Amino acid sequence: MDKYVIRGGNPLVGTIRVSGAKNSALPCMAAAILTEDEVTLENLPQVRDIETERKLLESMGAAVQLENGDARHRTTICCRTLSEPEAKYEIVKTMRASSLVLGPLVARAGMARVAMPGGCAIGGRPIDLHLKGLEKMGARITQEHGYIEARAERLKGAHLVFDRITVTGTEDLLMAAVLAEGETLMENCAREPEVSDLAALLTAMGAKIEGAGTSTIRVAGVERLRGARHRIHPDRIEAGTFLVAGAITGGDLIVTNCDPGHLSAVMEKLRETGARVDVLGPDTIRVRAEKRLYAADVSTEEYPGFPTDMQAQYMALATQAKGVSLVKENIFENRFMHVQELVRMGANIKVDGHTATVRGATQLSAAAVMCSDLRASASLVLAALVADGESILDRVYHMDRGYERIEEKLAGVGAQIQRMGNIFPARPAGQP
Ligand code: EPZ
Repeated sequence: MDKYVIRGGNPLVGTIRVSGAKNSALPCMAAAILTEDEVTLENLPQVRDIETERKLLESMGAAVQLENGDARHRTTICCRTLSEPEAKYEIVKTMRASSLVLGPLVARAGMARVAMPGGCAIGGRPIDLHLKGLEKMGARITQEHGYIEARAERLKGAHLVFDRITVTGTEDLLMAAVLAEGETLMENCAREPEVSDLAALLTAMGAKIEGAGTSTIRVAGVERLRGARHRIHPDRIEAGTFLVAGAITGGDLIVTNCDPGHLSAVMEKLRETGARVDVLGPDTIRVRAEKRLYAADVSTEEYPGFPTDMQAQYMALATQAKGVSLVKENIFENRFMHVQELVRMGANIKVDGHTATVRGATQLSAAAVMCSDLRASASLVLAALVADGESILDRVYHMDRGYERIEEKLAGVGAQIQRMGNIFPARPAGQP
């Protein structure tokens, strides 16, 4: 099981490039189910979840080509033959976003059989709102043996109001609505840029969508969709993670191939701590932290508020800020898995319900720590970049799910980071 070995103390200086957004690529790959034609996606991140989605689509009968070489960030998907409209538990248990095939499968094939995703490290993460919307559109839903089965000769347009804002719920039902009979009005939708990215692809495929990116989306169902080519938008969470990396190390980092328009809340919060954040162009941001950072409270909200996917990374920064920072997590019920590991590195953090109180600045000390989920892992990488000494981060496969070659990218701007196989030599036989 690979580990990172990170020696702290180097300010990050130079230019670092952001990859395509994992959370755009996943629904866009699922959207290929909606047509018999080829869908080509570019600027795809080379991360584990994309590979998992490829396996999932192939298990259903799709042809998925992930191109190597300089075009290695491109995939062409053809779902002409969907021999088995089923997402098996073996795959779904490794990536709950597999539930994104539910809506497109029912819309295209009239039925879907998808393993219940089960919870994950950050919370229960049910998909009841996905199912409620499909039922409202005429699908018959049954659940047995850990699987959901949804059937409908043809989904019918409906008026859907989400009980709470859900990103993949909005995406799943948007993909169900584009082939439904009649018009669908969706209210209280997620406004995340990943929804807009998906809608751009669907529109290129011939869908009729208005309002993507706002809380109200109207869809006029069509009979069929054609293939299309689409470039995945930059990953705003990877970009935000790099901005924090530049600030926490007191560096001078230029983050390229990003979209500053998607990072307002993150940039404002970093400025509030005293970091200098300048937008240098339509796809470039510069972050510097020439002086001490100061505490600033943060409360996670749906987009365009401060993203929950940046909470763990911000908490690492807060340990280096002078004063008391209150970090409130409003989206998930268990997204403080990084706290205990940061405390093991010397951070002063107390959790009370959904709020963590971070007292800084504290000199973190290197330690052997354990990654638990994607963004908690990123938090530990950031902490290790400023800790005194050499930290060892275990279970870095969590990072591989959503960060492409991050050790190479960080080393390229001065981080002392190495990826190692199992670095503890096997104990000689007979020794405890
Ligand atoms: C998406 O997850 C992202 N994943 C998550 O990113 C992100 O943290 C989350 O949105 C919030 O922004 C992908 O896009 C693949 P939700 P999603 O449905 O859609 C509750 C990462 O790190 N809820 O918006 O699963 C749910 O429990 C990942 O890249 C229901 O109760 O999140 C949560 O409390 C982690 N019933 C809240 O809504 C439902 O049917 C928001 O969840 C659906 C959701």
